Amino acid sequence: MSADTAITDLTPEAARAELDRLHAVLERADKAYFQEDAPEITDAEYDAAKRRYLEIEAKFPEIRRADSLSEKVGAAPAEGFAKVRHAVPMLSLGNAFDDDDVADFVARGRKFFEREQGLELAFTAEPKIDGLSASLRYENGVFVRGATRGDGTEGEDITENLRTIGDIPKKLAGSGWPDVLEVRGEVYMTHADFAALKARSAAEGGQDYVNPRNTAAGSLRQKDPAVTAKRNLKFFAYGWGELSAPLAETQYEAVQKLGAFGFVVNPLMIRTTSTEEMLEHYRRIEAQRATLGYDIDGVVYKLDNLRLQERWGFVARAPRWAIAHKFPAEQATTILTGIDIQVGRTGTLTPVARLQPVTVGGVVVENATLHNEDYIAGRDSTGAPIRDGYDIRVGDTVIVQRAGDVIPQIVAIVPEKRPADSVPYAFPHQCPECGSEAVREAHPKTGKLDARRRCTGELICPAQAVEQLKHFVSRDALDIDGLGDKQIAAFHADGRVMQAADIFTLRERDARSLKKLKDQEGWGETSVKKLFDAIDARREPELDRFIFALGIRHVGETTATLFAKTFGTFAAFRETAQAAGHGEEEARAALLGIDGIGETVVQSVGAFFANERNEKAIDDLLAEVTPQVYAVAAAADSAVAGKTVVFTGSLERMTRSEAKAMAERLGAKVSGSVSAKTDLVVAGPGAGSKLKQAESLGVQVISEDDWFDLVQ
Ligand code: IVH
Repeated sequence: MSADTAITDLTPEAARAELDRLHAVLERADKAYFQEDAPEITDAEYDAAKRRYLEIEAKFPEIRRADSLSEKVGAAPAEGFAKVRHAVPMLSLGNAFDDDDVADFVARGRKFFEREQGLELAFTAEPKIDGLSASLRYENGVFVRGATRGDGTEGEDITENLRTIGDIPKKLAGSGWPDVLEVRGEVYMTHADFAALKARSAAEGGQDYVNPRNTAAGSLRQKDPAVTAKRNLKFFAYGWGELSAPLAETQYEAVQKLGAFGFVVNPLMIRTTSTEEMLEHYRRIEAQRATLGYDIDGVVYKLDNLRLQERWGFVARAPRWAIAHKFPAEQATTILTGIDIQVGRTGTLTPVARLQPVTVGGVVVENATLHNEDYIAGRDSTGAPIRDGYDIRVGDTVIVQRAGDVIPQIVAIVPEKRPADSVPYAFPHQCPECGSEAVREAHPKTGKLDARRRCTGELICPAQAVEQLKHFVSRDALDIDGLGDKQIAAFHADGRVMQAADIFTLRERDARSLKKLKDQEGWGETSVKKLFDAIDARREPELDRFIFALGIRHVGETTATLFAKTFGTFAAFRETAQAAGHGEEEARAALLGIDGIGETVVQSVGAFFANERNEKAIDDLLAEVTPQVYAVAAAADSAVAGKTVVFTGSLERMTRSEAKAMAERLGAKVSGSVSAKTDLVVAGPGAGSKLKQAESLGVQVISEDDWFDLVQ
């Protein structure tokens, strides 16, 4: 018997064995998805397995297991958060995979209500957001508790994390809300926020993020709400749980009400009585899928009339009156022609798949990520299988998947098509760029091997050196006008700039050089002068930017600012960091004592300053530049010191990050959402729900110009 034997051909014994096998597969997949936020099989594979499972149960009711998965939603809550019992269970949805399934659903409804003369059934159709569902409880208009779905009956109390989400009102807007209102909807992360987080993390040598859904899930389960706050999660409201009074008579109107109470509701919801229009809307949404900016995995149809919803009722853990019409995954089959290794700024070796070009969801894909060594091997460092346990080899026929803006990935191989002479891929243990040893570090506490292999060559590795230089001049670091990735790569290739200090001696060396920059392709007298002036303008960088620019692993902007604030001068920071690097306990304790700094950062900072090559590079740099003293003194007497400020709408005189930096420099706290604790909202054109929220809470709102007047 095999996994694709037709169910009608199964003997009862074979069916039982197959049911047990699928049970194990699905349980493992649920655990990975719901508790570990790290799915191991694709949604399509999961759906196929689940469908087969249900079909076997239907054909052989006598072998149905007592712990049947048809009764179960999700997985029991993870440890660590308080449990919340849902007064009204959080349900799952049945699936429709094609137009016929949808027509059947509508027909079932018409049949159920056939005795009602002349009744025309209306349905709503709206996107199915690929995020995590959450239930938000409001008492007398105030947000009091928020929970995950968990197993549908009992979830986790994640109130504080949900509070950080700007789309979730802390107090309801408008009027007429029931005293008890539980709003249900989906927490998700946009493609833009996901890409930015991933890039930031890669630059800082932090963890890898696989997709927006898992990242949103991980962000919601943070022990520290400040971390959640930084992830910029979003929320769409689409339903409700416990209510002390009905919201409306129809699904459609109830959702509009939620909008009026200050929730964000999806603009792509329609209501219709025609199956044809439901399917048209499905195709319209599918066509927009790639440009929505967030992941959706189908369309949900719901019976509109709430009284009829109640009458139609439920099966097991899903309503009869709603169904999810899933999109086929954007997948395609092609051949893996090669594997290249890219070396990042902190030395991470990232394998990239080179593919025979193939169209996936309307886009030609030639490269895909292979994540890391374990992913290629099909086993993690403990030997547990990843995916289906098959390794990935050059020459393999592979399944490529694209989800929105996320980098295409290889989700499976087709074992039957593997060439007889193929060999397992040997992940290099030497850096392909500099030949230095490449190693996998063990986690200092858990001893678990890092999934990424890293080059130990640091600055002697040309790939790391170039990436490090690009980082040094990048926008959030030294931000030198006219010096971007392209110029850095060219200057490094022709030997003009080998380390950061060389940037600042360019003008002087160029004056003496026979191979003047103005004579090089792409340059002229004026552009060279402009570049040198821009470089000179940055000889006294702000301390936080300077520390960030050094590119110390695990030291991102926030951490760099903490160091700048704490030490005030570069010399003071360096002295403590060096001492910590030489194992002096007092210095280590001083660093660990900073709120927001942990062991990983301290280890990394210590190692950086204990390295002689880095020390020499810093000495050379300090001969050319003088980092400023960090201006904490100015903060105390500013007009906004100690205040909580929210920026919203588009700002014209400064970027968001500038605004934030400026406010913090002046001693204010910047928040992403408006609450009763907010002192001031700076609103630019296009400000929406936050502005409304501020007005309803009576928080002071000023314009961007007012802000500048206030802080001068
Ligand atoms: S309605 C009783 N509407 O899909 C009906 N669910 O597969 C409950 N989801 O648990 C759900 N978008 O997490 C509904 N527009 C939408 C949705 C949606 C995403 C999720 C939700 C639910 C899961 C069921």
